[in-house]
This record gives sequence, C-alpha cells and structure tokens, in this order.
Amino acid sequence: MPTATDLSSKLESIGQSALAKYLAGVQGDAADILLNQLNQFSLDEIAQYIKTYGPTYHPTPPEDSIAPAPYFSISDTSWDRATYQKKGEELVAAGKIACFTVAGGQGSRLGYDGPKGCYPTSCVTNKSLFEMFAQTIYANERKYNATIPWYIMTSPLNHEQTVAFFNKHSHFGLNPDNIKFFEQGVMPSFDAATGDLLLSDPTHLATNPDGHGGAYKALHKSGALEDMIARGIEQLSYFQVDNPNAKIVDPVFLGLHAFSPESSGEFSSKMVAKASWDEKVGVFCRVGDTLSVVEYSDLPTELAQMTNDDGELMFNAGSIAIHAISIAFINKIATDPSYALPFHRAVKKVAHFDPATGQHVDPQEPNAIKLEQFVFDAIALADRSIVLETDRIEEFAPVKNATGADSIETSKRLQSQRAANWLAKNGVTIPTNDDGSVNATIELSPLTALCSNDLAGTDLPDSIEPGASIEL
Ligand code: UD1
Repeated sequence: MPTATDLSSKLESIGQSALAKYLAGVQGDAADILLNQLNQFSLDEIAQYIKTYGPTYHPTPPEDSIAPAPYFSISDTSWDRATYQKKGEELVAAGKIACFTVAGGQGSRLGYDGPKGCYPTSCVTNKSLFEMFAQTIYANERKYNATIPWYIMTSPLNHEQTVAFFNKHSHFGLNPDNIKFFEQGVMPSFDAATGDLLLSDPTHLATNPDGHGGAYKALHKSGALEDMIARGIEQLSYFQVDNPNAKIVDPVFLGLHAFSPESSGEFSSKMVAKASWDEKVGVFCRVGDTLSVVEYSDLPTELAQMTNDDGELMFNAGSIAIHAISIAFINKIATDPSYALPFHRAVKKVAHFDPATGQHVDPQEPNAIKLEQFVFDAIALADRSIVLETDRIEEFAPVKNATGADSIETSKRLQSQRAANWLAKNGVTIPTNDDGSVNATIELSPLTALCSNDLAGTDLPDSIEPGASIEL
C-alpha cells in the first residue's frame, strides 16, 4: 500500500498541493485513517474528473435534436398485453426476477432524520415504506409460489440504520437470507473555485454518495451481482424507495421488457403522462437517435410547454423511475470501461475543515462540486430500450417533500384514491367530495390485494362511511 510520502508526491503531481502538504504533516492514527481513505480512490481518475468538472468546466451545449420519445401507450390495443403478462408471470414463477431498491439518498427535502425507507407512509396505519415493499414482495411470493430476492442499495450515510431497522422488525416476515443490503460508492467533493479536494474533518475527505448510477459498480463490487447469478436471477425490477404505489413486481412490464422484439431486454422504463408542464419528473425524449431521460431541470421551458393540436403536452412522458434491467447488462456496465456512465455535476454547500488554518468552515453559499451518476443514463447504452405507459394513480405516489407537491399528504391521498378505485371496481360504494375526490382515508394492505382483481370474491363492505378512516 502506498505510504504517506508516496501519496503526498502523487497528490502534488495532480495539482493537490494543499492536501499533499497537509498529509505530509499528519502523524499516527490520523495519518492512517486518511491514507486508507485516499487509497480507496484512483487519484488519476479523480484528477481527470476535477479537470473536466472543476473550475474550468465548460458545459457542451446539446447539438442533437430533441423529440418526444415513443412509448407503449396504455390505450393502445395493438400489442398483446395478455401474452406479455403470461410470459412475465412465468419469469416470476421460475424465480428469475429480483427486486432492487435504491435507498441511498439523504432525503433532505423531506426533512426526515433517518433513512427514507423508514418513514411512516401508509395512509391509515403509518407503515414504513420498507414495510409496504416487504409486504408486497411477500404477497407476490405467495401469489407466484416463488422466491423473490430483494436487493437494497444504501449509502454510508444510512447503511447501519437501514439494516438495524430491518433487524428490529424481523425483516417484516421475509426470509432474511433473501434480503441483501449493500452500500453504494462515494465520490470526493471538491472546491468549486480551486478544484482542491475537501476534508470533512482533520482525518477524512469530504465525500458524497455517487448517485443511483453508482448502483452498477456497487452491485458488482458488493457481490450482489454474483449472488443474483448464483440464484438464477435474470432480470431486476428497479424502483426508488420514495414511491409506495410502485408496482414492484409487474408481469406485463417484465414480459414486455424481456420478450418484445422492440426491446433488447436490457433496460426498460415506465412513464406516466405528466400532470403539468412543470412537474418535477424527468422526461423520456429522443435526443438525436437515442432514447434518454432529460431531467426536469434540463428540459428547456419552451419544449416543456409545447402542446399538440389536442392541447396535450408534446413532451409528456414523465419518468416514474421504475425500470427493468437485465443482469447481463448490469455486468457489462459495471465491468466494461467502454460502457462507462457520464457524471452529473452539482454545486452545493459543503461544510469542511481548512487544512491551512485548522478551522471548520460553514459556507453560506454553494462552494463545492458534487459528482453523481444516474442509473437511467444506461438507456443510451442498451441496444433497444422501451418505455411503457402506466396509470398515475395505480403506480405513482412519491414522497419527496415535507409539504406541498409530492409530500406525504399528496402521497396518502393518492394511496387512498387507488384503494378506493379498486374497491369501487368490486362493487363497494365510495363516498366522494364535490370535486370527485374520495371522502375517506382507505388503506389496502398488499397482503389483502396486489391489484383490483385480487379483491374479487373477498369479503368487502357494501359501502364506506363518509369521512371514515379504514384499513382492509
Ligand atoms: C427522480 C428522477 C426523475 C424522476 C423522479 C420520479 C433522478 C436524478 N431523477 O427525481 O427523473 O422523474 O425521480 O420520482 O433520479 N438515490 C440513491 N443514491 C444516490 C442518490 C439517490 O440511492 O446517491 C436514490 C434515492 O434514495 C431515491 C432516488 O434515488 O430513492 C431518487 O433520488 P432523487 O435525487 O430524490 O431524485 P428526484 O429528484 O426525486
């Protein structure tokens, strides 16, 4: 392992003189801790990132044309939904599907002091997001008589708390052997003005999680990919920790992804029609010849607002961040350098220790660059990637903010609305308000039903009382 002297001269040679000088003067355990951390990174790669995204960063304006992306429409009857559903069900029943949750984010917008998956979210009994997903997996295992392993990506910021939460709740009744937690990687944060690597305290570099795109490397490095291969898993059902309505085992989607001639079975996605032009979701677009997700912050307003003759948004394919990804494709992205994903750059406030003064600095303005990779940038690397439209109320009730749009309040309303729709389809009278919304709070456990058809023949009330709060 390189010594402090080796690393000091290496840092000097890549233009990190301040850190080189500091390292040369650190002694004992403190030096060992810092050395250890520095040795986890390729300093040549870091130097390259700082050169590209640091103080002299020049974004290259997109040259390619942007057009709306094609997708399998929910109302289109020209593709055979029933056949794909059957094929998807066969994949699940054969034990070839695993669930994969990205749960490494900090959840800072929600203002919750803990892993987001632990957040009380179900609309009557306040089950955590993790419990809702666990019960959904359990119910699917029961329905298909199959094992559905669950892989959960955490980050160094929340790994221990996440694992402890599952232990405390006895893995919500799932077999612990079938739940694998692994940490995503981190990237060093660096000073936006000087490109200097930052220290979070006297013995540690300041780092940030490397984005959900770090999942590919982390799946490989942690042994999770190997575990999937050993279990005969072929496809992952990918979803974010923040969406309790995600249909995390969807045979139609999995069948279409794996067997449609329009898909190479590598990376597929789901979309809903955007609720408004400025809804904060990525949009599936065709950029040049390539299918891409253009993030809401990057889609020019004039395109976002463009409408067709019927007054509908042209760029309406909102990403709900649900994907199907093949194990073979993940392996390629993780191990083949020609499949490397790009980085996205964000300028953020990063508190740090100044080695020159020995002082802790709490910046008032954004001062540092954080680099992240996005999982969906892999779409461009797939041979043929498809997008399936789905119903918003059925599958999208995100919990992102403390209040307002995409908050716990809107999520609970959507969860309740979905439950009401399922009950209404099965003959239950639902009380409504003047605006048509449900005048009750209804929680349907995944153990009771995974879709409205599952309620057929079950013992249901004839009606729900106005204003009731009820769990079924
Ligand atoms: C995300 C998508 C957006 C999509 C929307 C749907 C991105 C960049 N954008 O927006 O296209 O329309 O969801 O709800 O993802 N995460 C990690 N590790 C990280 C960073 C994030 O695991 O390093 C996880 C989070 O825990 C969360 C998810 O990724 O589950 C989304 O991250 P977030 O940054 O909150 O994205 P959004 O802005 O919500």
